Amino acid sequence: MKIKRVGVVGCGLMGSGIAEVCARAGYSVLVREVDDQFLERGLSRIKKSLDKGVARGKLSPSERDAAQSRISGTTELGDFSDADLVVEAIVENLEQKKETFAMLDRVTPAHAILASNTSSLSVTDMAAATERPDQVLGIHFFNPVPVMPLIEMVRTFLTSDATYQTARAFGEGLGKQVVVTKDRPGFIVNALLVPYILDAVRMVEAGVATKEDIDAAVKLGLNHPMGPLTLLDFVGLDTTLFIADAMYEELKDPRYAAPPLLRRMVVAGYMGRKSGRGFYDYR
Ligand code: 3HC
Repeated sequence: MKIKRVGVVGCGLMGSGIAEVCARAGYSVLVREVDDQFLERGLSRIKKSLDKGVARGKLSPSERDAAQSRISGTTELGDFSDADLVVEAIVENLEQKKETFAMLDRVTPAHAILASNTSSLSVTDMAAATERPDQVLGIHFFNPVPVMPLIEMVRTFLTSDATYQTARAFGEGLGKQVVVTKDRPGFIVNALLVPYILDAVRMVEAGVATKEDIDAAVKLGLNHPMGPLTLLDFVGLDTTLFIADAMYEELKDPRYAAPPLLRRMVVAGYMGRKSGRGFYDYR
C-alpha cells in the first residue's frame, strides 16, 4: 500500500513535529486538535519550526512553503475519512487513546493503518479497541521530532507483516532510522532512559553531587548532548513521572519507581522547560 495522506491526532509538541516531518517528506497532512485555540497554537509551532529549519539551512524557503501548503488542520476526527495512515499523539491516557482508536476505526478507510506515538502505554490495548488490530502499531518519535533521527516501530503480536512493512517504509521515507521493538513498557529507549534519569534524581536526593556537576559529568564524561537533569527538564518532569509510573505499574520493577523528589516537584508545578522551572530556572 502506498501512503499518500497522513492524519495526525494531536498538535502538541510531538504531534506538530510529526506533522512537520510528514509534510516535509511530501505527504499531505491533516492535523486534528480538540479546539480552534489548540489548533492555532499547534499550527504556529509548525510554522516556527519550519522557519527555524530554513534559518539553519536545513530546507530552502520554497521547500518550507511547499511543506506548509501540504498541512491543514481540523477539529473533527471525522475528517480523516480519506487518510491512509493516522498517527495518534494525544495525551498519555490509555482510556482516551482507546476511545480515539475506536473512533478512528469507524471513520478511516478500511485500508488505513492506525499508529500511536505512545511512549509508555500498551499499543495492544489500542489495537484491541478496533476491528482492525492487525493494522495497528506504534510509531514512536523522539523530541524534537524534526531533529531526532530515530523512530521506534512497535509491533504487537497482532500487527500484520504487511502493516509493519508499510509503516517501516513510511518511517524510512521520513528520513528516520527505524528500529523495531515488541510492545513492552518503555520499548527500547525509555526502558533504558527512565531508570537512568530516575537514578540521577536519586543522586540529587542522596546529596551525592550538585545537579550542575551530575549534568557536567555525563555531558563531558560520556559525551551526551545534555546531562540527565537538563534532559529531564527538556522532556518534562510530569511526562517522565507519568512514563515511570506506567512502567512501574506494569512491571513492578523498582528501577522504574519514581523517587519522591520527582513526584513532589511535579506536584509543586516544576514541570521543566514548559512551566519555566524544573531542576533549572528558565524564566
Ligand atoms: N528543523 C530542522 N533542523 C533543525 C531544527 C528544525 N526546526 N532545529 C534545529 N535543527 C538542527 C540544527 O540545524 C542542528 O543541526 P546540525 O547539527 O546539522 O547543525 C541540530 O538540529 C541541533 O540543533 P541546535 O543547534 O538548535 O541545538 P543543539 O545543538 O543545542 O541541540 C538538541 C539541541 C537536539 C535538543 C540536543 O541538545 C539533544 O540532542 N538533546 C537530547 C535530546 C533527546 O535526548 N531527546 C529524546 C528525548 S526522549 C523522547 O523524546 C522519548 C519520549 O518518549 C519521552
